[in-house]
Amino acid sequence: MHFHKYPYISNFEFASTDAKGNLKTSLGSYSLKVSASDEGIFHLGISGKGWKVNDSQAGLSFKPSSISAGPKLEVSKNRFILRDSDGEVLLESAPRRFFGQCGDASVFEFIKEKADAFYGMGEKWTGLEHSGKTTKFWNTDVWGDFNAEAYVNGRPAPDPVYVSIPYLIIRRRGKYIGLLLDNPHSTFMSTGFKVAIAEQMEVNPEGELLAEELVSKLSDGRIHLGAESGQPNLFILVGPTLPELTRKFQNLVGTTPRPPAWALGYHQCRWGYESARDLFELDAHFTKHEIPADGLWLDIDYMRGYRVFTFDAKHFPDPADAISKLNAKGRRVIPIIDPGVKWEKGYDVYERGRKADAFCKNPQGLEYIGLVWPGQTVFPDFSLPSARQWWSKEVADFASHGIHGAWLDMNDPSTGPADNDQMCFDHGKKSHETYHNQYAFGMAQASREGFIKAHPDQRPFLLCRSGSTGSGRHTAIWTGDNYSNYHHLKTCISTTLNLALSGIPFNGPDAAGFGGDTTPELIQDWYKAGFLFPVLRNHSMKDTRKQEPWMFGPAVLKVLRKYVRLRYRLRPYLYQLFIGNELEGEAILRPLFYDFADTKGLPLGKIDDQFLVGPSILQAPFVQEKQTQRDVVLPGRTRWFDISTGKWIDGGRSITVKADRENTPLYIRDASILPLARVSPADNTFDGSKVDFHVFLSRAGTAGTEYEFDDGLSFAYAKGAYTRLAIEAKLSRNTLRISTETLHEGAGAPDFTVTTTTDIATVEINGKAARKVKAQGVPLGNYKTQTWRA
Ligand code: GLC
Repeated sequence: MHFHKYPYISNFEFASTDAKGNLKTSLGSYSLKVSASDEGIFHLGISGKGWKVNDSQAGLSFKPSSISAGPKLEVSKNRFILRDSDGEVLLESAPRRFFGQCGDASVFEFIKEKADAFYGMGEKWTGLEHSGKTTKFWNTDVWGDFNAEAYVNGRPAPDPVYVSIPYLIIRRRGKYIGLLLDNPHSTFMSTGFKVAIAEQMEVNPEGELLAEELVSKLSDGRIHLGAESGQPNLFILVGPTLPELTRKFQNLVGTTPRPPAWALGYHQCRWGYESARDLFELDAHFTKHEIPADGLWLDIDYMRGYRVFTFDAKHFPDPADAISKLNAKGRRVIPIIDPGVKWEKGYDVYERGRKADAFCKNPQGLEYIGLVWPGQTVFPDFSLPSARQWWSKEVADFASHGIHGAWLDMNDPSTGPADNDQMCFDHGKKSHETYHNQYAFGMAQASREGFIKAHPDQRPFLLCRSGSTGSGRHTAIWTGDNYSNYHHLKTCISTTLNLALSGIPFNGPDAAGFGGDTTPELIQDWYKAGFLFPVLRNHSMKDTRKQEPWMFGPAVLKVLRKYVRLRYRLRPYLYQLFIGNELEGEAILRPLFYDFADTKGLPLGKIDDQFLVGPSILQAPFVQEKQTQRDVVLPGRTRWFDISTGKWIDGGRSITVKADRENTPLYIRDASILPLARVSPADNTFDGSKVDFHVFLSRAGTAGTEYEFDDGLSFAYAKGAYTRLAIEAKLSRNTLRISTETLHEGAGAPDFTVTTTTDIATVEINGKAARKVKAQGVPLGNYKTQTWRA
């Protein structure tokens, strides 16, 4: 597979469209079916010779409806025009330039506008805004498929990487449009193909547009979304705002199921942790250094000769016993699971898989053999329901050791030096390309089913390397093998933001970097930047400098500990954001332009070193080596509370801040109420009912939010075992009046306190004077607070 070469647009023949919308090229006639849903999502499906079935496993939830309110799409008589409900043209193609064919390959073409900005595209390491890019969607094993200059220093950034989600967000005249190819084959996009003179002449203008108009319209270039094969299926979503677009998109591809609260804790990993002893040692270190931690991870060496679903008896004489002891200490053990099964007679997992006819075949109908950690390996064919069932049973048996989560690696799928072209699906009948991009999706789906089979009352936590559209329904994603340097620290922000806009809000990088040696400066900057990322896992490669928080001396430890503790203090807030994604499809980490419009002189669309954590927290971390000061854009007509100084700053401007070892630029939006955990600093237990509402109001006015909690662990919430509360805070003069209303009480009554800054003289809670009490939990920042209770 070529990663750097793309089907060239001039090789496509553009189809003519008749009055019914049917398409014709010299290879045949194709039917075009256009349907629309109530939410204003359009689906365009093209079928005919060569494109008979859609191989996508994404399982999108799209319900066509006959209601015709909202945006309007016209595809007929060689025209494609999408109009917003107010009649404004949002997207159009030049006459007879809407759909092109080149054999099995297909392409959709749209006119680009000069001021367009582009986002999304799933996992891309090539920056936040995607103008002028041509890119492919084909899951790769980055370190196996690119050279070191690319994956270490981004010269040039590797592309494509592990996750393929061919979803393009266009920001046009302040409105947001989303285009999704529901085609699992190798797809491509281009956001800047310029019209050459010769090509303008090739364009055959028909319909209403005049030739000159067309020429000027095309001079800003064109947008292409295509595939090398597979049935052309395009979804078009109209926001018009980015939050609305994101909610619609998330509901189409499926939201992220509420994770267990422990998944939102701190995770410690390293290639090299292999034994029960290693994990007990880690537990002891975390206890000694008073750092809360939930997840202790096992890399490949815990297995017997890298055979999946085994424990090396030397390292784990009694796995269930060791794991239950660690669970009792509040730690979860998360082992790695690779898809490659050692090709070995007598190895029970292999034998059972073979009996279930669960492995991929080559075109000869023989088991396809690749080369991964255990040597020669076979690969489960996750496209087959029967193989997924077999795998989920293996996972369930393995999980019965007391395991509640797994790290799903190498599912790009990586087959080592063996070319995976010969790895076919559906008993050798379907080409590799058909399921390549969906391989990790199937693995995650089957693995999640396995965990739920083993522990029907517990939410599993899966962390997967590769993925495709809809993967977020089954798993979180970590952004693969990165490097301990500032290039990776900085770019992980845009990668995580675009993933979040592409339906994978639950993601994060290997904190402090996987390859290479981290430094005391880098790891501090990394924790300060990433401590609120949805996934916070410190992971490093074998033979690199050890990077557990206590490996850099007391001063660094102090900083790292501070930020891990802050994460736990803010965990109830993060948990709300996850509930918001599950229920509404709201993004968790967001770019600034998600919640704020540009103000004069302050465009937000390219800011890639700042981000929002939900609606209330803004971070502007130091992500450049030895940087001593930086500019911070405070967006919107609001005020921001600087937690380093305890001062309010007016938004709608840029300020300059100085680097400071222990602090990071972090701001709370005016009129926010943050739910915080009331736990002692080293405590990693989660009790959502005990909450501290920290109110931020810069002047007389009202703040309001809703807060929901459940047991943080089971599925009981889905049957009503959750409590939801509406909280309002009204400030007049220096009196704060808090009122709460219980919207649902299925998990008991909340026991809450209220924290304010010290300028508040009195607090009333539900009409009664509140009393001051001792604060519980680490302070958010360097300012004085007081805590109150009814
Ligand atoms: C892959 C994974 C990495 C892991 C290593 C060994 O490179 O991406 O996280 O540590 O394999 O299992």
